[in-house]
Amino acid sequence: MTRRLVLTRPDDFHLHLRDGAMLAGIAPESARDFARAIIMPNLVPPVVTGAQAAAYRERIAAALPGADFTPLMTLYLTEDTDPADVVAAHAAGIVTAVKLYPAGATTNSASGVRDFDTVRPVFEAMAEAGVPLCVHGEVTDPDIDIFDREAVFIDRVLDPIRRATPGLRVIMEHVTTREAVDYVRSADTGLGATITTHHLIINRNHLLVGGMKPHYYCLPVAKREVHRQALVAAAISGDARFFLGTDSAPHSNDRKECDCCAAGCFTATNTMPILAEVFEREGALDRLEDFTSGFGAAFYGLSRNAGTITLERSDTPTAFPARIETGAGPVTVFNPGFAVHWSVTARN
Ligand code: DOR
Ligand code: ZN
Repeated sequence: MTRRLVLTRPDDFHLHLRDGAMLAGIAPESARDFARAIIMPNLVPPVVTGAQAAAYRERIAAALPGADFTPLMTLYLTEDTDPADVVAAHAAGIVTAVKLYPAGATTNSASGVRDFDTVRPVFEAMAEAGVPLCVHGEVTDPDIDIFDREAVFIDRVLDPIRRATPGLRVIMEHVTTREAVDYVRSADTGLGATITTHHLIINRNHLLVGGMKPHYYCLPVAKREVHRQALVAAAISGDARFFLGTDSAPHSNDRKECDCCAAGCFTATNTMPILAEVFEREGALDRLEDFTSGFGAAFYGLSRNAGTITLERSDTPTAFPARIETGAGPVTVFNPGFAVHWSVTARN
């Protein structure tokens, strides 16, 4: 049995770091294991210009003194986004990608896109300049069942966008369905997908059976078990179009344990040990490094990280903190619901 893994330092291709006291409290949880992360722009107000992304990047650096961590910034696409600003911010190395939130789809998405035709000039400029588009793939129509919103988005929104702008490189973020996995597999080129830690573990029963579990509530919401199995199959398949984006999304406990629970699972603290456990159970430990440290960098045209992390297996379960205390309140750490035997023992 493998008891020790030395992996190229991983990257997180979808991360929420927030701002202010929350940023200060949770950023070290990601910087400990991850070398780089694609930083989501859904702050209040959102990060919509290159200048705002540069300022946010400075605040992240200030929250991580001495850390070897590179935030890869994104711009929040609105119907007022200036294509020239996107292209200039990308050319200047300030911005790595643009994030599309359908308006109303998730946390702080009110400034997102309602009419996808209005942003076509931005997509065209991005395709021309090689700026990738990260997509929150859910429709928001009230008549579409929440469990169907990802699959409907592919047909009604994503596929038409990709057909209209063939050179646009797209990352379907946090895929949750067999339909999304199949769609990514069916594409010739220019389409990748991130898979989160939690969607490899929970299905909708974990969320709803035996009482509602607010710390398992995220968007897109966890689906049926067949969909979770499709995600695991994609993650361990060795197909370079699927890579890790944790969507670690901290909310203080008072915003999770209340009448209207905020969406998000906080997995930054224990993602790597949990993934080692999941891949081990699947007999796929030899595929973990590509998923966490290889395929995403390749998709984004980045070099692999120079450093390594070492994971070791113990017969006794690993203890993780139940919560991270921050100046913005405590944040509950994702509990996979099974014993994890791996821990990170060295970072070089
Ligand atoms: O669960 C989620 N939380 N999904 C998202 O799309 C946004 C995120 C957040 O910002 O909290
Ligand atoms: Zn997210």
